[in-house]
Amino acid sequence: MTPSKIESEIDKSLVPVHIGIIMDGNGRWAKKRRLPRTSGHYKGAEVFKKITRYCKKIGISVLTVFAFSTENWQRPKEEVNSIMNLLRTYLVDAFGFKDENIKIRFIGNREALDEDIVKKMEELESVSKDFDGMTLNIAVNYSGRTDVLQAARRLAESVKEGALEAENIDEKEFSKYLYTYPCPDPDLIIRPSGECRLSNFMLWQSAYTEFVFMDILWPDFTERDLDKAIEEYINRDRRFGKI
Ligand code: FPP
Repeated sequence: MTPSKIESEIDKSLVPVHIGIIMDGNGRWAKKRRLPRTSGHYKGAEVFKKITRYCKKIGISVLTVFAFSTENWQRPKEEVNSIMNLLRTYLVDAFGFKDENIKIRFIGNREALDEDIVKKMEELESVSKDFDGMTLNIAVNYSGRTDVLQAARRLAESVKEGALEAENIDEKEFSKYLYTYPCPDPDLIIRPSGECRLSNFMLWQSAYTEFVFMDILWPDFTERDLDKAIEEYINRDRRFGKI
């Protein structure tokens, strides 16, 4: 593939440091082809791998993908199982990422996940902890509100134990308790599939994030679509409340 403008011409200091992606539209992609929804997730997982590698190639420091939300448990058991199995496959495959110098972290509540999945997650995090090519956060059983809640709970514990004074809790301190710490807040969140909402993804972290909503289903998403979203981001005027 010939290198795109983002790969070859754009000043690397202009690309977002942290990108979040809501990988949406797998089910509709499959339905359009009269295939089971699970085949949309399989294709989605392939696209996920391709886009992760591309993000690293163009110099993105942190990529956070929404793979499974706390609300997704309400889907039919068969579909939940297929996403969990994809995750298993991915976790095994991911050891191939070792050569790619990508630090992998899982964000979300692990308590409801199968033991073998949690074990593999921990292994992967431990093996890749010193890799510095890019950080990949995979949100599994994640909810932005739960993220804020668990942070509040742990902060309360710290205050109770006397490790922290309540009046010293500011935004910076609070952020340290979020699942995403020590990653910076996302600069850009991309949601394909035509839906224009955040669906409980990184609520605290996205206070000043730029959103790009795209009319394309995740399994059809290509490197060029990512380029388009980044170009749109670069053309935005980020003022952070100033003039
Ligand atoms: C949203 O599409 C997608 C999901 C709920 C699952 C996303 C999972 C993957 C891309 C594969 C697994 C990921 C990893 C990291 C291995 P949808 O099903 O809500 O689509 P719809 O809105 O068209 O129904």
